[in-house]
Amino acid sequence: MPKTPDYFVGKTIVITGAASGIGRATALIFAREGANVACADLDADGARRTAETIAQQGRKGLALPTDVTQRAQVNDAVARAIETFGTVDFLFNSAGAAFRRCKFLEIDDDLLDRTFDLNVKGTFHAMQAVLPHMLANGHGVIVNVASMSHKRGGPGASVHYAAAKGAVLTMTLGVAREFADRGIRCLSISPGPVNTPFARAADTSPELVQKFIADVPMKRMAEPEEIGELVLFTCSDACPYMTADTVYVNGGGGWR
Ligand SMILES: NC(=O)c1ccc[n+]([C@@H]2O[C@H](COP(=O)([O-])OP(=O)(O)OC[C@H]3O[C@@H](n4cnc5c(N)ncnc54)[C@H](O)[C@@H]3O)[C@@H](O)[C@H]2O)c1
Repeated sequence: MPKTPDYFVGKTIVITGAASGIGRATALIFAREGANVACADLDADGARRTAETIAQQGRKGLALPTDVTQRAQVNDAVARAIETFGTVDFLFNSAGAAFRRCKFLEIDDDLLDRTFDLNVKGTFHAMQAVLPHMLANGHGVIVNVASMSHKRGGPGASVHYAAAKGAVLTMTLGVAREFADRGIRCLSISPGPVNTPFARAADTSPELVQKFIADVPMKRMAEPEEIGELVLFTCSDACPYMTADTVYVNGGGGWR
């Protein structure tokens, strides 16, 4: 079914992790389509920069300094988005990180907790914040970022992160199926390696990055826009029967 022209004009998306990488690229793609974009991120300056770029394009961006691990901050951010734009139609949970790479026996409680707090609880908080509003409206699409790592388990480098992304994928299935007959769609996207500051943020060695790329038949990382355009498609009215599952975007390969 073709997307309705101008489908996104005047609609609103909340994006967590909108200061950088996939979140920022997606914010600019939705703005290009005429959507209002609420840019939530721990990095307040980065969120402001994304919102400013959107404004320079003649669209409406709202910077929302938010730590997604803190439920009250996420609730406030969603409330401000609704207050500013009148409604929220879409949520894209992109905030996430692996924090650091290490072998399984070196994962301590602090690393496991921080990884689950950000990737799992952050996604959980944001979904619980927008769902009552979306249910009242009778429509809404939520897209969460999982990872190819959920299939691989992250041996030797990131079992903590792979397990957290597995939880994101499972939570997405449950939310999608619980609300499927009430106008809500919920999907996850599982990217392979993407060219963003993510690897640097996790202190990934250049050798490991090269191994990730070597594992991809296309022999390159994805660009963040290649994920953002998929978020746009999944939120559109071109795919109303699509919900619950994860969509792989991996150049034919995977993330170790
Ligand atoms: N880049 C990859 O190779 C890759 C592969 C698979 C999945 N992912 C996932 O994609 C998503 C986006 O990652 P990216 O590659 O754009 O990385 P990125 O580092 O460029 O962006 C992550 C953003 O999340 C924000 N963030 C971190 N902690 C936060 C918090 N507590 N509250 C709010 N915001 C917070 C950061 O400030 C940053 O802007 C993540 O969930 C990541 O796990 C990335």
